[in-house]
Amino acid sequence: MTDIIRSDAVQQLLDRAAGLGEAGGDPRLKAILRDLLEALMSVVERHDISESEFWRGVDFLGRGAGEFGLIVPGLGIEHFLDLHMDAKDAAAGRSGGTPRTIEGPLYVAGAPLVDGDLTTTNDVNLTTDPDDTEELTMSGRITGPDGEPVKNAILHVWHANSKGFYSHFDPTGEQSPFNNRRRIRLGADGRYAFHSKMPRGYSVPPEGSAEQLMKLLGRHGDRPAHVHFFIEAPGYRTLTTQINFGDDPHAHDDFAFGTRDGLLPVPDRSGGNPAVLFDFVLQRSESANDEGFSSRSRASA
Ligand code: DHB
Ligand code: FE
Repeated sequence: MTDIIRSDAVQQLLDRAAGLGEAGGDPRLKAILRDLLEALMSVVERHDISESEFWRGVDFLGRGAGEFGLIVPGLGIEHFLDLHMDAKDAAAGRSGGTPRTIEGPLYVAGAPLVDGDLTTTNDVNLTTDPDDTEELTMSGRITGPDGEPVKNAILHVWHANSKGFYSHFDPTGEQSPFNNRRRIRLGADGRYAFHSKMPRGYSVPPEGSAEQLMKLLGRHGDRPAHVHFFIEAPGYRTLTTQINFGDDPHAHDDFAFGTRDGLLPVPDRSGGNPAVLFDFVLQRSESANDEGFSSRSRASA
C-alpha cells in the first residue's frame, strides 16, 4: 500500500480543511483539528478502512452521541486526562495529596447544601429515598500538605443507590431529585462524617451504544461500587476524586478506569454495617483557577 498521508496532496488538504490559510477563526482550534484529522486519516490508511466500515463508524458516533459521556471514560480517555494532568503536575513540582480520579458523567449541580461541622452537627444523611439495603458510614479528615486541618471545605458527594442507579439518571424514574447527593459544609477542624445506603456497582445501560461498543471489544461495562467527591476549600486546590470499594468483585476490573491505588478502601464490617474511614489530603492553591472547577457542562436540577 502506498503511503499517501505524507503526500503533498493530503498535507495540502489538511491545511485547507483546518483553515490554516485563512485569517479568521481560532488558531489553537485549527492546529488541534489539523492533527486530529491527520491522525484519523492515518488510521484509515494503516488499517485500509473500507468505505462501508468508515460510514459504519460515522453512524455509530451519530447514534452514540447521547452516550459520549459514558464512552469517554469507558475508552480510558477520561483516565488519560488524569494521567496527563498528573504528569504536568509532577513536572511543575506539584505532586502529593489524595490522587485525583475521573469525575464521570453523572454529577448534578445544585445538590442540597447541608451543615456538616461536626462540632455542632452529627447526622448528615445522603439517602432520602427508601432503600432496603445496609447502611454505609463514611468519615475522616481533610488536611493540607502539612497535616493542617482544611477549614470551611465543601465536600460534594454523590453515589448510586443499591440498584446501581444515580438519581436524575435513573431509568426506572423511581428516585427523588438529589437522592444520594449532597454538598456538605465542613467546619474549622476539617472533619467530615455522613451516612447513606450502600451503593451497588454501576453498569452502562443495557442495549445502549456504550454497551454495544464494549461487547464489540469483548469487554464489559461494569464499575465497582464507588462514591464520588469534589472537595473545594479556600486556599486549596479543588480535588475531583472517588473511592471504590476494595472488596467489590470489580475493584480491579473497572470499565471506566476510575480506580486508583490509594482510593480503594475496604469497608470495615466488624460493627455489622460497612464503615469506611478515609482521610483526604489537598494541595494548596497557587492561583484562583486552582480553586474552581473545570468548565465541563454538567446536569443541574
Ligand atoms: C460512568 C459511570 C460512572 O458512575 C462513573 O463514575 C464513571 C463513568 C460511565 O457510565 O461511563
Ligand atoms: Fe459513578
